[in-house]
Amino acid sequence: MAPPERRATDRTLVPVQELHDAPLAPLTTFRLGGPATRLVTATTDDEVISAVREADTAGTPLLIIGGGSNLVIGDKGFEGTALRIATRGFELVGTTLELAAGEVWTDAVARTVEAGLAGIECLAGIPGLAGATPIQNVGAYGQEVSSTITEVIAYDRHSGETVTLSNAECDFSYRHSRFKQHPDRFVVLRVRFALEDREGLSAPIKYAETARVLGVQAGDRVELAAVRRAVLDLRAGKGMVLDPEDHDTWSAGSFFTNPILTAEEYETFLSRVRTRLGDDVAPPAYPAGDGRTKTSAAWLIDKAGFTKGYGSGPARISTKHTLALTNRGEATTEDLLALAREVAAGVREAFGVTLVNEPVTVGVSL
Ligand code: EPU
Repeated sequence: MAPPERRATDRTLVPVQELHDAPLAPLTTFRLGGPATRLVTATTDDEVISAVREADTAGTPLLIIGGGSNLVIGDKGFEGTALRIATRGFELVGTTLELAAGEVWTDAVARTVEAGLAGIECLAGIPGLAGATPIQNVGAYGQEVSSTITEVIAYDRHSGETVTLSNAECDFSYRHSRFKQHPDRFVVLRVRFALEDREGLSAPIKYAETARVLGVQAGDRVELAAVRRAVLDLRAGKGMVLDPEDHDTWSAGSFFTNPILTAEEYETFLSRVRTRLGDDVAPPAYPAGDGRTKTSAAWLIDKAGFTKGYGSGPARISTKHTLALTNRGEATTEDLLALAREVAAGVREAFGVTLVNEPVTVGVSL
């Protein structure tokens, strides 16, 4: 990609913080990966833009780091500029919320719940920063950010301009968006959401597990704080709430996306399930539009023989959820990738389904 032209408005960046040969592992929830040649921390949108322009003008590879909760960095590290987004901004006007990319997501959710507004309460406890949420259309417990995001303000590295993308222009789908499609084009600066004032009640509960623990029917509205609490408890039970003391949470959440199969692929898959597990076994299946079916990666992994806690090395499957691969403290990225490859190959052999990794890989691939 050609770097954007330098503009007259450019100012030379004097970064707030700049480090050389900087360890990146502490900036990731896996706590894995080698150093970056240079690490810049930007605390304002202008600093973010200047750092990106500077790297692009010099033709230096750029790695944007938010909360590091969805990143697998190779053991050799990153040759280039790693840019840490540390911008702050939480503005709530009526039911309109604008978050700076660097806001801690789970704290922002807590504040909207406290403010009595519905729309993102089921996304409590998700690690990472607000700016990352549109990139993979973060979702959990029946909510996805694509249902509440109205606009994303981003720096477009192709044009060198700051652009405002409408919800439609973000091309959201399951764990995907235009930002993920073109990873080297947009740097998210701000995200705007339209929340709902339902007098302290949540959006209708959609996820069966959440409805069960709340003791309500799917479609009911519940007190916002109760929904947030229920989601945090569910996530903690699966090791999906960060805890430095608990190696089960040294992960990137779900390591694989849930496979979406065409009608034909699903039939083939079902026959593999019957042959392997018996006629009475039904895999989890959810309609995914256009006659397609979404099944569960966690279930596939489990039934292929990789049960909770699987592994004997320093990288193992979480003891709480088969979809989370974890660093038990001493792992390298290669250990993690070896486990991921073993799991993916086992699932492919057992069921003919190819799992796709959810976290972004840097300098390595599965
Ligand atoms: N299951 C197993 N073994 C396990 C765990 C789950 O067989 O150890 C099976 C069960 O059949 C269960 C099904 O998997 O019913 C689904 O499990 P769960 O409800 O935990 O959902 P998930 O598909 O594993 C997805 C998201 C999570 C999100 C939860 C809740 C993806 C890739 N993952 O997980 O998101 O929190 O639903 O909505 O879509 C993330 O993306 O990092 C993430 C944590």
